[in-house]
Amino acid sequence: MKILITGGAGYVGSVLANAALESGCSVRVIDALHFDRKVPIIHLSNPNYEFFRIDICERQNIAPLLEGVDYVVHTAAIVGEPASNRFPELTEKTNYAAAKEIIRLCAEKGVKGFIFLSTCSNYGITEGLAREDGVLKPLSLYADTKVRVERLLMDGTPGIDWVVCRMSTVYGASPRMRFDLTVNDFAMNAYRKRYLDVFLPYTYRPYIHVYDAARVIMSMIEHFGEARNNVFNVGFNGENYQKIKIADIVRQFIPDLKIDVVDKGTDLRDYQVDFRKLEQYLGLKNLFTVEDGVKEVVDMLSQGIIEDPDADIYYNTKPRLENPVEH
Ligand SMILES: NC(=O)c1ccc[n+]([C@@H]2O[C@H](COP(=O)([O-])OP(=O)(O)OC[C@H]3O[C@@H](n4cnc5c(N)ncnc54)[C@H](O)[C@@H]3O)[C@@H](O)[C@H]2O)c1
Repeated sequence: MKILITGGAGYVGSVLANAALESGCSVRVIDALHFDRKVPIIHLSNPNYEFFRIDICERQNIAPLLEGVDYVVHTAAIVGEPASNRFPELTEKTNYAAAKEIIRLCAEKGVKGFIFLSTCSNYGITEGLAREDGVLKPLSLYADTKVRVERLLMDGTPGIDWVVCRMSTVYGASPRMRFDLTVNDFAMNAYRKRYLDVFLPYTYRPYIHVYDAARVIMSMIEHFGEARNNVFNVGFNGENYQKIKIADIVRQFIPDLKIDVVDKGTDLRDYQVDFRKLEQYLGLKNLFTVEDGVKEVVDMLSQGIIEDPDADIYYNTKPRLENPVEH
């Protein structure tokens, strides 16, 4: 089976590429390499792996790469509110216009299924647990573009089978590391500074380990026949946490950590999510918890695996977006 992963050199995409190869699939990756350009190297000598440094906004380059592809997992995007605020036009072009065109091309080329990585951020603020059919309140351009692509798929116009994965906030080690995600950010800052400011500490979000996220997506492909044309919250019951709880978990690894809570902040998202539908369809349990993710970050820093966690490549607000595919 051949899987094409857009954004396959990204934080989630690179772990997914690995998982797909491990499960015996051929993997074709399209990525503009906005961040850590070395990510694909590990797989380049694998005959089941192909890498193309291509901008997804250039449709003429995408169409030929869909030949012979069974499933497309679309992860490429300008990811997160801060990045979408900083690059609004690029966000609109990448997250909505390019996604729409790729969906159309997938239908034209007879791709069996399109798996869209959306986000639980679409819920914005919830009372109680958000289910897939609940009200969406996107609070950023980033989430708004995700909601619009979801609607496009749901209204059936493109004529292709699809699955929408509304992902929890991801954490843990990836070949393309991100230190702008809550668990990774808290663990990295706590390790280096012994100090954390926690803004809006009682707001909730669901979290998932990046390897578990890849397992879910692979399982979605395996069970595509039953899962198709459905929206899934991707995460696990029991994995909704307040930010202060994440800071407390980090303190288990850094006992002299000083935590200051700040009852204000700009990120107003506050949602708890119901994952029973995913469990019902796929029957998967999480292999990892937030503790594991914190340990991975502390390990990678204490062993010097990542030397400079302040480098631009680890933050989505500082991508190399000027002519990303010029060499
Ligand atoms: N990481 C999370 O916590 C999280 C949570 C919810 C949803 N998601 C979704 O998962 C997906 C992956 O997120 P991530 O954390 O891996 O982000 P990421 O930024 O690490 O990965 C995105 C990848 O897409 C590539 N890309 C961006 N624009 C491109 C373009 N025009 N052409 C080709 N490649 C391009 C980037 O180079 C990058 O490698 C995104 O769609 C995101 O919305 C992630």
